[in-house]
Amino acid sequence: MSADQFNATIIERIDLNPYLAIVKVKPDSGEASPFIPGQFCTLGLPRADGDPERTTQGKPPRLIRRAYSIASCGEVTDHREFFVVMVEEGKLTPKLFEVAEGGRVWMSDRCDGHFTLDAIKPGRNLAMLATGTGIAPYISILRTNQLRLARGESQPWARTAVLHGCRVESDLGYHQELSTLDAADPTFTYMPTLTRVGEDETWHGRRGRLPALMEPEVFESVAGFPLDPENTEVMLCGNPAMIETVQQMLEPMGFVTATKKQPGNIHFERYW
Ligand SMILES: Cc1cc2nc3c(=O)[nH]c(=O)nc-3n(C[C@H](O)[C@H](O)[C@H](O)COP(=O)(O)OP(=O)(O)OC[C@H]3O[C@@H](n4cnc5c(N)ncnc54)[C@H](O)[C@@H]3O)c2cc1C
Ligand SMILES: NC(=O)c1ccc[n+]([C@@H]2O[C@H](COP(=O)([O-])OP(=O)(O)OC[C@H]3O[C@@H](n4cnc5c(N)ncnc54)[C@H](OP(=O)(O)O)[C@@H]3O)[C@@H](O)[C@H]2O)c1
Repeated sequence: MSADQFNATIIERIDLNPYLAIVKVKPDSGEASPFIPGQFCTLGLPRADGDPERTTQGKPPRLIRRAYSIASCGEVTDHREFFVVMVEEGKLTPKLFEVAEGGRVWMSDRCDGHFTLDAIKPGRNLAMLATGTGIAPYISILRTNQLRLARGESQPWARTAVLHGCRVESDLGYHQELSTLDAADPTFTYMPTLTRVGEDETWHGRRGRLPALMEPEVFESVAGFPLDPENTEVMLCGNPAMIETVQQMLEPMGFVTATKKQPGNIHFERYW
C-alpha cells in the first residue's frame, strides 16, 4: 500500500484489556466532516502480504475497511473516537490492534447511518441497550446532549436508561463516565450487566444477559419508567442475536420495529 493511502493518525489509544480499546483518530486534514451522533464511519488498513486481494491489476493494494460507530461528541471534529473489540479470527481488527499511538490508518471522511435521534419522537423515554462495543453510539449521543444542556438547550427526550451487557468487568467501556452521569442526573439510569463473571469474583452488580432486563417489571424497577410502547423508544445496538431476542419480546407488547418504510419505536444497529 502506498503511504498516501493513509489519511489519519491514531493520536490516543486506551487499552481496556488485550482485546478492547478506545481509539482516537485524527484526520490529516485537521478537520473531519460533521456527523450526526449515532452515525458511523469506516476505518481501513492494507490487506496482508499474500492475500489474493492485496493488489488489483497493478493498482495499490486494496484496503480492508470496516464500519465503526463514532463515540465522540457530535460537535468535536478535529478527531473521532471509536470503541473497538478485536475479533480474533477477523480480517481487520487483529491488524488494527497492532497499530500503536502515532500509527497510521485510513478513515473515511463520510459518515453514514440512521441510528440517530432523528428517528426518535421527542419527549419520550429512551431505553438504550448495547452489547459490548455497541455502547459507542450512545456515548456520542449522550456527550452531545451534555454539551447542549450546558448551553441551556433542552433535552429532546424525557428519561433515559442505558443497559449495557458485557462478558466481564473490564469490557465495560465508559463505565466511569456513565456512572458519573447516573449519579448526577435523576433522569438518567445506567445499568451494566455481566455474563461471564465467576461466583468468586468481586463484581457486585447485575449478572445475566440483557433480555432478562426487558421483562416489564424488571425493566421498570431498573430504569425508573415503565416499558410502555406509547411513551418509550427502544434503541438496540451490537450483537444481532440480542437485537432479535429483544425485538421478539417487545413486539407482542405493542412495540413496532422501525424500518425505512414504516416508523416505529424499536430502532436497531446490527454490528454483524
Ligand atoms: C454500522 C456498524 C457499526 C459498527 N461499529 C462498531 C464499533 O463501534 N466497534 C466495533 O468493535 N465494531 C463495530 N462494528 C463491527 C465492525 O464493522 C467489524 O465487523 C468488526 O470490527 C470485525 O471486523 P474484522 O474485519 O476484524 O472481522 P471480519 O473478518 O469482518 O469478521 C466478521 C465476523 O466477526 C464477528 N464480529 C464482527 N463484529 C463483531 C463485534 N463487534 N463483536 C463480536 N463479533 C463481531 C461476526 O461474526 C462477523 O461475521 C460495526 C459494524 C457496523 C455494521
Ligand atoms: N469479551 C471477551 O472475553 C473476549 C475475549 C477475547 C476476544 N474477544 C473477541 O471479541 C468478540 C466480541 O466479544 P464481545 O464480548 O464484545 O461481544 P459478544 O460476544 O456479543 O458479547 C457481549 C455480550 O452480549 C451477550 N450476548 C451474546 N449473545 C446474546 C444474545 N443472544 N442475547 C443477549 N445477549 C447476548 C454476551 O453474553 P454471553 O457471555 O452469555 O455470550 C455478552 O454479555 C468475540 O467474538 C471475540 O472474537 C472477546
